[in-house]
Amino acid sequence: MPEIKFYNHEPIPMEMHKVKIVQQLTLLPVDERVKRIKDAGYNTFQLHNGDIFMDMLTDSGVNAMSDNMQSAMLRADDAYAGSETFYRMQKKLEEIFGIHYLLPAHQGRACENILTERFVKPGNCVIMNYHFTTAKAHITRVGGRVEELVKQEGLEPKSDLPFKGDIDLEALEACIKKETPENVPFIRIESGTNLIGGQPVSYANMKAATDIAKKYGIITVMDASLLQDNLYFIKKREAGMEDKSIRELTRMIADLFDIIYFSGRKFGFARGGGILVRDEAMYHSMEDLVPMFEGFLTYGGMSVKEMEAMTVGFDESMDMDVISQGPQFVDYCVRKLDEYGVPVITPGGGLGAHLNAMEFCAHIPQQEYPAGALAAAMYIAGGIRGMERGTLSEERNADGSERFASMELLRLAFPRRVFTLSQTEYVIDRVEWLYDHRDLIGGLRFIHEPKTLRFFTGILEATSDWPEKLAEAYKAEFGADQ
Ligand code: F0G
Repeated sequence: MPEIKFYNHEPIPMEMHKVKIVQQLTLLPVDERVKRIKDAGYNTFQLHNGDIFMDMLTDSGVNAMSDNMQSAMLRADDAYAGSETFYRMQKKLEEIFGIHYLLPAHQGRACENILTERFVKPGNCVIMNYHFTTAKAHITRVGGRVEELVKQEGLEPKSDLPFKGDIDLEALEACIKKETPENVPFIRIESGTNLIGGQPVSYANMKAATDIAKKYGIITVMDASLLQDNLYFIKKREAGMEDKSIRELTRMIADLFDIIYFSGRKFGFARGGGILVRDEAMYHSMEDLVPMFEGFLTYGGMSVKEMEAMTVGFDESMDMDVISQGPQFVDYCVRKLDEYGVPVITPGGGLGAHLNAMEFCAHIPQQEYPAGALAAAMYIAGGIRGMERGTLSEERNADGSERFASMELLRLAFPRRVFTLSQTEYVIDRVEWLYDHRDLIGGLRFIHEPKTLRFFTGILEATSDWPEKLAEAYKAEFGADQ
């Protein structure tokens, strides 16, 4: 995105697209919202979309498509086997990443399932910069373990470190030696590290980490779901990278890895997924898993319409004007909140703004899920749906005790090309109001707690009548109809 200069106005990020199709939004009155969040078990995943004003749950599968993506859908070639759509998608990915073999899958976690089935055995240790919920759940499901070696500074909520997703290289080598290389089926580097605030990994760190892996003969895997944000940050923040094109950077990164997988619900602006495999024999060793779990090898459970749209979306992800908007909006939001004194993860990353619930709700003990409580409160205070990324998103230890997350975050995601700056201003305003009334937020406890991925379907209750009290304060400020 060229940084548009202004005459009198303070600099603001500009949308480099115009709206062609819209979806009407409704803002339910606050008392109604109190009822809806209670009915949803204080779990924002359980809310109905029609009850939400600003849906900032995720940037997954809800990004706006371009006119070119939509029109590409018309030429989708439906065939059980040998769809031309698949070959177009494969060719585009090969052009961008320089890797020929593509295993299609219906979304990112399906790729994780296939990789886990193929590589992870009981007792194995998969080393990562940081886990993603579904990646970890698959590995532990088959009896594997995850070792997260993001640099300690990456976990500091407030920072001006440009690459908080970097893996600790010394710890990586020490861990390989301790585990022995035979017990490490692969090293997974997640670009745009989701759970620590969409924080990027530098090219230099990816290069050094993959060099270590190669030294010990360990397979390297990149989770490229959030690669487009990471590419933006490498170009903007990494010394020596400013003159490289996004295509050049993508190719330099891709050249480091044996396997690259992605959620097409993020990368590609559509819905799907895929695994790129460099080595032919390695590809053949996995290909039977696609028809078993996903669908035939030329659609992998995806709609061919989505595949056509995604193929255009990959190209759009190589355009700095396109990939800048998300990080610039996040940066705008994070800076304003930080100036106001709201505890927010800095610097702004990709995918969304992240409120630090550990500090925002310092009065709520971790066993009462401060980030989950903040998510419920944010919905009451403005109809804004965010996502808990904290202890609720963890799974209990084998003995049933809580595994407390190292960070308690409320993520307010910015789906790509979806919201305007005035909507962003509304969110900033309501977060500021909630921060000034944070003492009114109370804790949550489970009524129904599923064993796996409990944050999706768990049902909770408030530990007191705090939701009603928060709504009273909100009405006194904004009136009953807001
Ligand atoms: N890897 C990363 C880094 C992700 O952020 C996600 C999904 C996945 C893998 C799994 O992909 O959803 O297509 O199965 N993240 C979503 C989110 C769910 O809201 O952050 P998927």
